Amino acid sequence: MSSVQFPFNLTLESEAFQSLHGVNTIIRRLSDMIPCFADQQAVKQILAEDDPILYEFWEIEQEGSAGELSFGLTRIHAGKIGKEYHMTKGHFHVTDGDEIYVVVSGHGLLLLQTREGETRSLEMVPGGICYVPGGWAHRTVNTGNDNLLFLSIWPPNIEHDYETVAKHGFPIRVMEGADGPIVTDNDQS
Ligand code: F6R
Ligand code: MN
Repeated sequence: MSSVQFPFNLTLESEAFQSLHGVNTIIRRLSDMIPCFADQQAVKQILAEDDPILYEFWEIEQEGSAGELSFGLTRIHAGKIGKEYHMTKGHFHVTDGDEIYVVVSGHGLLLLQTREGETRSLEMVPGGICYVPGGWAHRTVNTGNDNLLFLSIWPPNIEHDYETVAKHGFPIRVMEGADGPIVTDNDQS
């Protein structure tokens, strides 16, 4: 249960979320994401010198009544590992629960997959929203030159399943192509 005092208002800035009382701060570095990337040589080379932060998020997870809302702000730093753009780990929601992403700034792609292997990629642009239906795993990729910052809102009491994505990967990847990002098949999944 969070200890945020409701009601409240805040701005869509990392500093505002960071200072929320009871906020959960998660920082993911390259060393937390090693198997996610296709180019393991590039992973090794970068880790030999540094362990960069790929993304951070600040969340208030609600675990009370069904009418509550959990929410968070995610900031994915711009950059690539080899030719593959920085991305989140990605997860399924175990119990059914939809989610809305609202893009504050930056550009990216939201990758989606069902447990049956159906996939989608949705563009993320400033001011845009993406709707993630329950049952679709979701991973966010920063394809731009600046931070990708987005708000997410989901129901309370949602368990996040990271293991399935960690074990099987995503069937699609986002790589830098000659004319910008391209969505390719993941031949390792
Ligand atoms: C919550 C949600 C987002 C992500 C966040 C980080 O259900 O989808 O708030 O948790 O963008 O991504 P993951 O959780 O995949 O590391
Ligand atoms: Mn989610």
